[in-house]
Amino acid sequence: MTRSSAATLVAGLLIAFFLPSSAAPAKDYVKYKDPKQPINERVDDLLSRMTLEEKIGQMSQIERANATEEVIEKYFVGSVLSGGGSVPAEKATASVWQKMVTKMQKAALKTRLGIPIIYGIDAVHGNNNVYNATIFPHNVGLGATRDPTLVKRIGEATAHEARATGIPYTFAPCVAVCRDPRWGRCYESYSEDTRLVQLMTSSIVTGLQGDVPAKHPKGVPFVGGSKKVAGCAKHFVGDGGTHKGINENNTLLNFHDLMRIHMPPYDNAVIKGISTIMISYSSWNGVKMHQNKFLITDTLKNKMNFRGFVITDWQAVDRLTTPRHMHYYHSIQETIHAGIDMVMIPYDYPEFVADLVKQVKQGQIKLERVNDAVSRILRVKFTMGLFEDPLPDPRLTKELGAQDHRSLAREAVRKSLVLLKNGKSKGEKPLLPLPKKAKKKVLVAGSHAHDLGSQCGGWTASWQGESGNNLTGVGTTILEAIKKAVDKHTAVEYAERPDKDNLTKSADEYEYAVVAVGEPPYAETAGDNQNLTIPSPGPEVIKDVCGVVKCVVLIVSGRPLVVHPYVDYMDALVAAWLPGTEGQGVADVLFGDHGFTGKLPRTWFKSVDQLPMNYGDKRYEPLFPFGFGLTTKAAAGKD
Ligand code: GLC
Repeated sequence: MTRSSAATLVAGLLIAFFLPSSAAPAKDYVKYKDPKQPINERVDDLLSRMTLEEKIGQMSQIERANATEEVIEKYFVGSVLSGGGSVPAEKATASVWQKMVTKMQKAALKTRLGIPIIYGIDAVHGNNNVYNATIFPHNVGLGATRDPTLVKRIGEATAHEARATGIPYTFAPCVAVCRDPRWGRCYESYSEDTRLVQLMTSSIVTGLQGDVPAKHPKGVPFVGGSKKVAGCAKHFVGDGGTHKGINENNTLLNFHDLMRIHMPPYDNAVIKGISTIMISYSSWNGVKMHQNKFLITDTLKNKMNFRGFVITDWQAVDRLTTPRHMHYYHSIQETIHAGIDMVMIPYDYPEFVADLVKQVKQGQIKLERVNDAVSRILRVKFTMGLFEDPLPDPRLTKELGAQDHRSLAREAVRKSLVLLKNGKSKGEKPLLPLPKKAKKKVLVAGSHAHDLGSQCGGWTASWQGESGNNLTGVGTTILEAIKKAVDKHTAVEYAERPDKDNLTKSADEYEYAVVAVGEPPYAETAGDNQNLTIPSPGPEVIKDVCGVVKCVVLIVSGRPLVVHPYVDYMDALVAAWLPGTEGQGVADVLFGDHGFTGKLPRTWFKSVDQLPMNYGDKRYEPLFPFGFGLTTKAAAGKD
């Protein structure tokens, strides 16, 4: 070293030593509160400051009804949820929802380390718990659209309507691959076809959470801004493959077929930066998914590199064994060891927290496992900006039920309808599109013609949904849509259950009839159904009306139903699925303002004795195959 370079070195050292370095933190500097710091360093800093009780509080998700300020502060609660139908008040406005979330959040921010809660809700076809929200078609109908761009836009709109109520987290998308329509949750599945579910998964996750930046590392959660929400891919894994479609039952498959049929959508979700993944109540080859370390930790976390957090389903730990109280302590150990990070523990959180604290202190559960769980939860909260932006934004309340969302939902409805029959015999003039200017009366009939609740299906306003027209606030029934669409001189007559004799006598007074029948609303196990018949008096109405008047039948249901015995009565047949509040979309295609484009997202069987029967099976004799759908041209100047 030369004399001059030595002098330079000494001078440099003296400067560095005596001059206040810009890197030296101020005395009250708290790293995890600094948004300029790398997220991993913020996580590590915060984790290092947390007590065991604070860590286990973060792993607890409790129900809204229990989430008082005292409980949130006392248990350091990490998350609150609205279970299906759990609302702050009857017909609560967006502002009332925001006030509720704000109150809870301020309680959380008052805790020693000020870790914000993350509030979750099942916004699975719009923000469907909330009065006056836009209710989009359920996933089975979105699968029929084959339109990933549409589904992405629906994700964006759903995120806006969730944020309108101050909620930054939704338990969506359901990425189940429903392999048997007897399953009560089949309408929550985009399709029986894995690739179609993958396509829709990538779209909806991006819509809800935002586009992951280029070069975003696979598996790291991403939420792009305060108008986006954290998503939850569910229910991991194989929920749609249970024996005879029995909900929460056993999926009997070898590992190759589980990976081939049910796992791929999770890879799409992980690639798109999904924030959370919910575990299925079901079992795989007799092992409860909530206890499956090989699939949750070894496969999802380690092999697929999922870096967000894994959450249980509602009271899933309690349901692992019966009687619950005999084994609850052990069930906690099983699920946490398997790789669960957050426990949806709506009511029994005091017992859960006490048991888990005890098991960690006694060494039955390693602190490293708790630290991994809490790190994942904090990573999602930091990533979505909850520490910088914890409170609802009142400017977003106007997004709830916004007209542009309703127009989007109407577009989704018309693209989701699948035309299965149009014309009684070859060469006969097809019935659809219907003339708006009818020379004679038009008859609208059936249980689902004027019933918004049935049109929306389950997970609407309440957990199970409900028939009737006072559930959702704004919305258009199929009858109302038809009345709006036809020429003002066309007389529309409505009879839910026309009298057969009178109809027979007066049949020639009608130019055509629209018959809408289908299923009542249901959710989860309540929807399990081994016969899939159209509930009475649907079949009778079809035969009575279509036997004497030209008719188009709309099946409003979460899945294919038994129609084979009645198809010959019909001039036209449409699968309408569960269209939601924007029924005008049904009229758009019935009357030719837009053409039918929908394609079956699932096989339409002849008889339930054929089930399960999916596209690609060796034995495949459907009434209408997967991918089937007739088209019609939009009237001149339309579409
Ligand atoms: C339900 C469902 C799940 C939902 C959760 C919270 O039981 O299985 O899909 O997200 O509980 O409502």
